[in-house]
Amino acid sequence: MVSKVFLVILIVNLVTDCSYGQRDKKFFRKDYKYIDSVQGFYKIHTLHKTWFEAKRVCALEGASLFYPENDDEAQAVISYWNDTQPFSWVYVGISDLLVKGVFETINGNPVSDVYNYWAAGEPNDAGGVEDCVILKRDGTYNDFSCDRKTPFICKKSLLSLEWNQACNIPNLDYIYNEEVGRCYKFHLTPMSWTDAYSVCSAEQSYLTVINTQSEADYLVKLTELKTRNQAPGDYLSGAVHIGFHNRLNDGWQAVRGTTLDDTGYVCWGQNQPDGEGREQCGSMFYNGLLNDVSCDTRCFFICEHEVDTLETLYDDRFGDR
Ligand SMILES: *[C@@H]1O[C@H](CO)[C@@H](O)[C@H](O)[C@H]1NC(C)=O
Repeated sequence: MVSKVFLVILIVNLVTDCSYGQRDKKFFRKDYKYIDSVQGFYKIHTLHKTWFEAKRVCALEGASLFYPENDDEAQAVISYWNDTQPFSWVYVGISDLLVKGVFETINGNPVSDVYNYWAAGEPNDAGGVEDCVILKRDGTYNDFSCDRKTPFICKKSLLSLEWNQACNIPNLDYIYNEEVGRCYKFHLTPMSWTDAYSVCSAEQSYLTVINTQSEADYLVKLTELKTRNQAPGDYLSGAVHIGFHNRLNDGWQAVRGTTLDDTGYVCWGQNQPDGEGREQCGSMFYNGLLNDVSCDTRCFFICEHEVDTLETLYDDRFGDR
């Protein structure tokens, strides 16, 4: 009886906790800094990217390419940047890519509706190739070639924060599997193994590592469910990228630091591995058996997220189940 009442309270807590509870905690991701005065999370990316890559990276992290909404936000973010990083400019989420001469934010608002201070003589579309916008430390904009690589800032507003309670991440696409105790996302955009690896990483997860037969069974079911309505194409090699490789030529390794042999699941498909060194990345046939594949082959892929802090909470709360 006591445990039933407890369970009801727990469920009510979990439901009401979903977004507001998380917003109260003011936590988005470890790699983002919360700035209270402007109610936003920010990450300054020091790896230089083109404007398009920068926009994509922010989206993969569940955020968006930063631009200042107003003077306060510009001052707050530039002052954080002044305190922590040396470089002179960053890409912001403003361009005239849609129609030349019409500068808009990445969500389609005119730049005149947000923070809008250009350096003297800018924008000038020098050489006819400057369609993306950088923000300089002095708080002014300049138009810039989108293909040049520069640092950039991603932003998540506190108000837009949504929380996947079961998986303990700000990404609602991940599905918690109770039996395995982990969360998974099946990606339906085919990618090379290395691109898939970086997508999982940006989502705070990793290409899935199979540890047990029941996990393999679950992933087979998930794959079946997700690929059921996919038109067959030449990228459909009948396998999905997962987390093992021999890219360093020192034998098959799982991601996350173990050898493939130590994962607990080493069930190769018939005659696999058959790449003789040309196929250095790991995939899973749709039937669950392992396959070596060229790292450039574009496949669907599965990211896995380990439910860290919540895992112990679940154990405690449901201990007498
Ligand atoms: C940041 O540094 C630049 C250059 O050193 C300076 O002009 C600017 O006023 C500073 N801005 C803030 C908000 O600290």
